[in-house]
Amino acid sequence: MERGVALTDLTDSNPTRHGLFDPALLEILARATRDAVRYDPDPRGPLPARETLSARYGGSPDEYWLTTSTSQAYAWLFTLLADPGDEVAIPAPGYPLIEPLAGLTGLGVARYRLHYLHPYGWSIDRDDVAAAAARARMRAIIVVHPGNPTGSYVSADDHAALIDTCARGGIPLVSDEVFRPFTVDLPSGSPPSLAGAPGIVTITLDGLSKTLCAPGLKLAWIHLTGPHSATAPLAAALDEIADAFLPVAAPTAAALPALLEAADGIIARTRERLIANRSALETIFPSPLRIRRCDGGWTALLDLPATTPDPTITLLEEHHLSIHPGWFYDLPTTNTLALSLLPEEDTFRESCERLRTALTPIIHL
Ligand SMILES: Cc1ncc(COP(=O)(O)O)c(C=O)c1O
Repeated sequence: MERGVALTDLTDSNPTRHGLFDPALLEILARATRDAVRYDPDPRGPLPARETLSARYGGSPDEYWLTTSTSQAYAWLFTLLADPGDEVAIPAPGYPLIEPLAGLTGLGVARYRLHYLHPYGWSIDRDDVAAAAARARMRAIIVVHPGNPTGSYVSADDHAALIDTCARGGIPLVSDEVFRPFTVDLPSGSPPSLAGAPGIVTITLDGLSKTLCAPGLKLAWIHLTGPHSATAPLAAALDEIADAFLPVAAPTAAALPALLEAADGIIARTRERLIANRSALETIFPSPLRIRRCDGGWTALLDLPATTPDPTITLLEEHHLSIHPGWFYDLPTTNTLALSLLPEEDTFRESCERLRTALTPIIHL
């Protein structure tokens, strides 16, 4: 932009920049704001909001804590579950913000690998998870369901293995489920939440930034489940953290029940976009290029031929195309590109056609 060049951005997963924010949400918020005159803070967030969450996502309202964002929820959980110098296990490839969030609380990370087998998809390296769980200062196993950028849900088999590992080590499972309703290559519908697994503490995270395509509304939640003997002390400690911050704006929390009534429509429209863009990719990048299986989420992974050096700097400097290299997400190869599936269909198709033209001399198509 400094050079006056307009970039074509295929990294952007901010839904408000792609026509996916529904302005009707602001009307709902305005109505709730008029009613939110009295400030009556509850560390967990107002009961009607938590009743709405329990009706939609299961469990009792007492199992929920409202936060301003999933990132804040991560930060609270790191304070809740660990001390500086402790560790959490995170997936690789995976969402790049978890490690710095852990670092801000003084925690380290141990990575466990996800393996890809085309066209079946991704699976968790259970030996890596077991090795991570055996580390002396391991305090939580984190999964992202479905993963960003892998788009893979935790399978029932992998979940059973995780439950076993967590139960043996007395370690909580943290499941980030912000993309769970956004199925793409999965006709059977959205897999269930990992909340409520028997015998272990499971803490799930979700929020409006994805559910309503509304990151600016700043509302997310933590759902704590597990055996009462384990969750009771965690709930008391989480109440203390929440009481210290009381971070949620009363109007947004008051609006949550009405806001979530709009969720299914917004999710359906967004999924149409994701599925249309995913299908355009298949047409624009035929074999020997390969689009990895993407069961859900907002990102597609495009594999170039194996020997291709990372083309992203050339694409940026010479073609003004901004694209995330796979290694940004800890993919072990240089030949994978991560593309946001959120842009409007025409923009996405034109951008991908430009990408294909730009790649032609690089990979000798
Ligand atoms: C897997 C995952 N979790 C959490 C978030 C952040 O959510 P929030 O805006 O609620 O902090 C993102 C944002 O892209 C994400 O990809």
